[in-house]
Amino acid sequence: MVSIRKYEEKDREGVHFVNHNSDGPEEVPDYQTGLFYLNTFCNYYIEHEPENCFVLDDDGRAVGYIICAENFDRFKEIFDREYLPRSDSYGEDRYEWASTAYLRQEDFKEEYPAHFHVDILPEYQRMGMGGKLVDTLCAHLKQKGVKGVCLTCGPRNERAMKFYEKHKFTLLSIDHDDACFGKKITD
Ligand SMILES: CC(C)(COP(=O)(O)OP(=O)(O)OC[C@H]1O[C@@H](n2cnc3c(N)ncnc32)[C@H](O)[C@@H]1OP(=O)(O)O)[C@@H](O)C(=O)NCCC(=O)NCCS
Repeated sequence: MVSIRKYEEKDREGVHFVNHNSDGPEEVPDYQTGLFYLNTFCNYYIEHEPENCFVLDDDGRAVGYIICAENFDRFKEIFDREYLPRSDSYGEDRYEWASTAYLRQEDFKEEYPAHFHVDILPEYQRMGMGGKLVDTLCAHLKQKGVKGVCLTCGPRNERAMKFYEKHKFTLLSIDHDDACFGKKITD
């Protein structure tokens, strides 16, 4: 049976597996790209804010996650210092990609200081668990008094675009590369 619980250190490998496999077998990244994804879109959250990360658990194994940074400025300061400098070691032009990956979250940081990533293994998708992960995170951030939360996804990621619309996120901006959605948490 699946359930949602707080991230624990023992989930690290499972979370990495989900990060590489949530888009299905045709989209599994090559080794270097996989390391780049973990460095840019995953490890900050589980290493610096595990208290703001939740996993979807099936019999002790992480099969999905929502990982969050509650304050953009704090995230940016640590990301730029510890994670961004490693980007180019994972392939050409990766620094450029990583250095522009969070521009939209920065644009909206006053009203939406928190941001997250959510991913679920294909065999656990479309069972309502993505919605439950988002609700769990929003309830947690509300308790902490965080004003709002945002995220970006690719505008051609139809699954994700529909998911955020269904779960009452507001489309804040959209261009060729990114759609940015937000949700207010406190008034
Ligand atoms: C996006 C994702 C987190 C959604 O989680 P989920 O558990 O599948 O979503 P839920 O079951 O809670 O919500 C289902 C809703 O999401 C949207 N959705 C999910 N999968 C979809 C699909 N394959 N096609 C179209 N819409 C889809 C629909 O609005 C759907 O509602 P419906 O079933 O009434 O049509 C999950 O599909 C996923 O991990 N995808 C791969 C990685 C990814 O794109 N992550 C987000 C990057 S920003």
